[in-house]
Amino acid sequence: MAKSEPAKSGPAVARHVAIIMDGNGRWAKKRHLPRALGHQRGVEAVRRVVRGARELGLEALTLYAFSTENWRRPEEEVSDLMSLMKRFILSDLDEFAAAGVRLKIIGDYKAFKPDVVELVEGAVARTAANTGTTLAVALNYGSQDEIARAATKAAEKGPITPETIAAELDTADLPPLDLLIRTSGEVRLSNFLLWQAAYAEMLFTDVLWPDFSVDHLREALEEFANRERRYGGR
Ligand code: IPE
Ligand code: IPE
Ligand code: MG
Repeated sequence: MAKSEPAKSGPAVARHVAIIMDGNGRWAKKRHLPRALGHQRGVEAVRRVVRGARELGLEALTLYAFSTENWRRPEEEVSDLMSLMKRFILSDLDEFAAAGVRLKIIGDYKAFKPDVVELVEGAVARTAANTGTTLAVALNYGSQDEIARAATKAAEKGPITPETIAAELDTADLPPLDLLIRTSGEVRLSNFLLWQAAYAEMLFTDVLWPDFSVDHLREALEEFANRERRYGGR
């Protein structure tokens, strides 16, 4: 067995969980509420789940917040999502910073408006020395874009191999991805962590993101603990 692979015996403890937070729109539609309110309730779920991730001792939690394809949505919705992001940083950064959370951004976030970029960079800088759970937020993230950027950098430095590409991915400093969760019943990756998911366990749930609770996260981790990971071996 290669040195980098975890031991197979004993219940597995997930170090790095990623979530495709989907279903805000359907949550709102079911209640005849505006879509924006679904996103607002989605932010509350983010708050709960980040707290839960800390309490459950996850090393890293990666959340898909805005994809490279989400620009295709109406301008008003994109702008709602941007203001929600800003408001979330302003309202929650103190708590997370004090709790030792390290904020990290994956994706080409510099394409956002300057005020968002500035706020995000300030938040990242403020938590950079923290050693608790890493919260990686995917902003203007697309896995294909990430891999293309990483391959370009790797090629500038030398031969392209899986290792040299992996070393240039936005997630290079995170533990290997253990568990990928998608809410809302869709069973696809939507351009999220395609490379990192090579041997991740996947869990698809019908729960809509605004309804996702710490109990759902705990159950997901329990299910993960019962999975048998083989990495191609036997
Ligand atoms: C996920 O909820 C939030 C983002 C993609 C930003 P959606 O807005 O995709 O909700 P549905 O899929 O339409 O229900
Ligand atoms: C994926 O959800 C992106 C995020 C959760 C940020 P989408 O709702 O954009 O995905 P598709 O379009 O249904 O594949
Ligand atoms: Mg969706």
